[in-house]
Amino acid sequence: MIPVTKPFLPPREEYDRYIDGIWNRNWLTNNGPLVNELELRLKEYLRLDHLLFVSNGTIALQLAIKALGLKGEIITTPFSYVATTTSIIWEGCEPVFVDILPDKLTINPDLIEAAITDKTSAILATHVYGIPCEVEKIQQIADKYRLKVIYDGAHAFGVKLKGKSIFEYGDISTCSFHATKLFHTIEGGGVVTKDPEILKKMAYLRNFGHDGFERFNGIGINGKNSEFHAAMGLAVLNHVDNILEKKKKQAVYYYEILSGLRVGYPKTDQIEYYNYAYFPVLFSNELQLEKSMKALEDQGIGSRRYFFPGLNQLGYTEGNCPISDEISKRVLCLPLYHTLTKEEQRMIARILLRIQNN
Ligand SMILES: Cc1ncc(COP(=O)(O)O)c(C=O)c1O
Repeated sequence: MIPVTKPFLPPREEYDRYIDGIWNRNWLTNNGPLVNELELRLKEYLRLDHLLFVSNGTIALQLAIKALGLKGEIITTPFSYVATTTSIIWEGCEPVFVDILPDKLTINPDLIEAAITDKTSAILATHVYGIPCEVEKIQQIADKYRLKVIYDGAHAFGVKLKGKSIFEYGDISTCSFHATKLFHTIEGGGVVTKDPEILKKMAYLRNFGHDGFERFNGIGINGKNSEFHAAMGLAVLNHVDNILEKKKKQAVYYYEILSGLRVGYPKTDQIEYYNYAYFPVLFSNELQLEKSMKALEDQGIGSRRYFFPGLNQLGYTEGNCPISDEISKRVLCLPLYHTLTKEEQRMIARILLRIQNN
């Protein structure tokens, strides 16, 4: 059995060392020392001024929307995970879908202006598969219309643009540290901003609005994370460079052994520092994808239609996004994880090539 992804587990003794400390201190959650250490280490690793460790990448999006006080319509991408859209709706706003770029699969900035109305408050775009959005164009539009910008960077850990972490762009960037992500804390997420005031707001929101034991600063939620999750993060962080290097080599090897396959790939070659979070393949049509997926499944190999259907197809709000509709029907993520072997990759390639030529 080859799964589509496999969480990385650090050597047991490295995790245990942190767990021993938890037992010694008897401090399990509520802004504990490991949560603080993880936030510090992540800020160092990603070279960020501010980052808060939160429960997961969905809460991160909700905190971001809440902290910016967004109302009305939020322009967003149809090509992302469902949490990107449902967070908008959960926060009482309306998603307005704008189609994606056919090569990068991120929101098409040239279509954003036409979707702006007097109710628009923000743009929420996803660096899908870790591919950076066209952040400069998006910021120009946001500045012109006084809109806020949130980036869903759930897939973008470690990605850099113009020498900076991709999380530095926009008013707030969010990340997911879910077990299947390049860097993970089992469940977890992060919010990043350069603005200390927004940071303060998100810190209150994350902790019920507590301002000390007896005072409250507005309404908050429980968006905290625990010492155990932080311990996993600290243990995993030491291995992230290594995991990333392995995934890069695997991706390069896929390109080589799949060269006879009539498929395309999202454009990643001009990304200054990419993280190889996923290996999405664009088949020529949906039938070819379904045949390939079935052939892999018959041999015990997992693959995932990530993302299908497009979020504009889920009945939340209407959205005319022909490029996303078409691409979501023929994109399939192949197995990519730290222990995937070359032999397994060759087996996957053989199956895909065989089914193509049948
Ligand atoms: C693009 C995107 N946004 C948000 C999320 C939600 O993150 P979490 O699972 O940590 O809540 C995910 C999860 O995979 C995602 O892929």
